[in-house]
Amino acid sequence: MKYRITILCDNTVGPLSGTIGEHGFAALVEWEGDALLFDTGQGDTLLRNAQRMAKDLHRVRQVVLSHGHYDHAGGLWQLLRICGGKEIFAHPGIFAPRYRVKDTGDALSIGIPYPEEFLIGQGARFSFSDRFREIGPGIFLTGEVPRTTPFEVGDTGLYCDAAGCAVDPIRDDQSLVIRTERGLVLLLGCCHAGLVNTIEHAREATGVGEVHAVIGGTHLGFCGNAQLEETVKALRGYDVRKILGSHCTGFHAAARLAQEFPGRFQQACVGYTVEI
Ligand SMILES: [Fe+2]
Ligand SMILES: [Fe+2]
Repeated sequence: MKYRITILCDNTVGPLSGTIGEHGFAALVEWEGDALLFDTGQGDTLLRNAQRMAKDLHRVRQVVLSHGHYDHAGGLWQLLRICGGKEIFAHPGIFAPRYRVKDTGDALSIGIPYPEEFLIGQGARFSFSDRFREIGPGIFLTGEVPRTTPFEVGDTGLYCDAAGCAVDPIRDDQSLVIRTERGLVLLLGCCHAGLVNTIEHAREATGVGEVHAVIGGTHLGFCGNAQLEETVKALRGYDVRKILGSHCTGFHAAARLAQEFPGRFQQACVGYTVEI
């Protein structure tokens, strides 16, 4: 089966005129006349970019929320309002309060900007699980990803409280896994669980060793250099054919990946499409 993945929301835009960027991520997965939306961006770009790319989101029946951050789930309300009710797959912890606490002590609320009950009233039919599960033909959700590597320490500025006392482990972070003839294709939101942790979990849960592509936000832009270098080493070991970085990958990590994987790394911004 062929799957087509199109980036609808990202921090940067490509050459397609009329599309716009925002800090966030969303991608459309299409196969055999069916479609699934992975994340929704912040809410200012999803519908406009989809319309510009002639992607009718009314026909999307299923939406995945990779985790409960505003830049991935904020567009859900607009989507429901304009395109009707949807089945929403997510981890049960997505509505927890969460904050980015800066070095200055200032705290920004970065959770989902709408209560669960409000979204249900707008047509959201939530399906919560923290387990690995199949949600479409050859399409899986990782569920909660075990944190096993010692070097994937993540983003140290994220907390469960505005005072910055309790570090947010972002247990709700999950990725989409597509089993293709060429190997696994991973679609990542922010990949707060760590890219190598996520790949290992996907390989173990599917029994497929080959990793053909990783696409989306890696959060390497918010992690230290040691994590970036260990991740580069691991990606080389997996012999990943396509590394398509978006969103929180950031300039520095993207440049490093481009240098290390010439011909395999590409910036996947708004309008980027890949068929696998
Ligand atoms: Fe993000
Ligand atoms: Fe995030």
